[in-house]
Amino acid sequence: MSLSSSQRLTPAAVREMAGARLGGPVRLFRAPGRVNLIGEHTDYNLGFVLPAAIDRYTYVAARPRAGRELRMASAQFPETFSLSLDQLKPLRGWGNYLAGVADGLQAQGLPLHAAELFVTSEVPYGAGLSSSAALEISTGLALASLSGASFDPLHLVRAGQHAEHAFAGTQSGVMDQFISTFARAGHALRLDCRNLEWELVALPAGCALVICNTGVKHELAGSEYNQRRQECETGVDLLRRDRPEIASLRDVTIAELTAHQADLPPVIFRRCRHIVTENQRVLDAGRAFHDGDFARLRRLFSASHASMRDDYEISCRELDLMVAAAEAAPGFLAGRMTGGGFGGCTVNLVRPELVEPFRSATAHAYAQATGREAEIIATPAAAGCEELL
Ligand code: GLA
Repeated sequence: MSLSSSQRLTPAAVREMAGARLGGPVRLFRAPGRVNLIGEHTDYNLGFVLPAAIDRYTYVAARPRAGRELRMASAQFPETFSLSLDQLKPLRGWGNYLAGVADGLQAQGLPLHAAELFVTSEVPYGAGLSSSAALEISTGLALASLSGASFDPLHLVRAGQHAEHAFAGTQSGVMDQFISTFARAGHALRLDCRNLEWELVALPAGCALVICNTGVKHELAGSEYNQRRQECETGVDLLRRDRPEIASLRDVTIAELTAHQADLPPVIFRRCRHIVTENQRVLDAGRAFHDGDFARLRRLFSASHASMRDDYEISCRELDLMVAAAEAAPGFLAGRMTGGGFGGCTVNLVRPELVEPFRSATAHAYAQATGREAEIIATPAAAGCEELL
């Protein structure tokens, strides 16, 4: 979910707009959207992911107020919300994420302060770029900072996940909130979702990140996402009959999975095969980025896309056509669909000096194939959430 638009925002303009709306000086916070380079649907299977933050942000301006209420307004939506910190419950609309984050922070023992909040975003909505995580983390940082209590950035990650699970009804993993919180400029972050250990992966100078939005909106809370998660859990239950110590698909090798193929319904086998092979691709891609080995990255991205299309069945016609359009464009190094699936974006590595020809050739080919206009975003790998002083 997001409050999206394609307009670019500057901190100074947001501060001025928010000051006028909230009637005085504000503290200003922001958190980025993200693009996942590789490692899709592996996070909730306690595997590996390799996301980077993008330079599109959700901003939250805040002013403390007396009493126990949170009051929330946005630049993009007409509805405003007012709710008591003592009675946080799911809401309809964008305020639901804020209520969920506030609840998640309080549940971790942070004593929140009443506040006026003003939210605005430039993260495209429903495009698989984690507009909801950007909203959760920017709000979480604002509320935690206003509380005056000391807090750990992981509190924000947990509160964002709480908003997804308990308020939005999406059983998502930890990747989006983690990268929106911990990202470093110029780097992707390889996260082990089992123990939350992470390392930075520098993006080589020879490639630029280019995101191609199909314009097909995905709806994560749509039952498909939760169904995939359920199918993986079914796979684990069946595999545990033979080896009870398996806690997640992270503990399963491809040799072991193949040996048990006959024990699993074909769909469950394919879901598990995507996860097990995708984990290995993340590890291989980390090394390939380190070595600047773009031929290897091309093979890994392509295999990842095929695995999502055929085994995990989360691609769609437009995503497949966008990948094909990019592959034929000048400067293309590697590309695949990214995010939860069923629409949204592809992520591409492109020769920096050929970003413009890549952009126009891909948009043209995509329009020819689908009749749709592609939104193409070249982005540096950005830094994670922060207060703007
Ligand atoms: C969404 C979820 C993430 C992750 C991706 C797929 O973005 O929020 O936790 O599962 O889909 O990789």
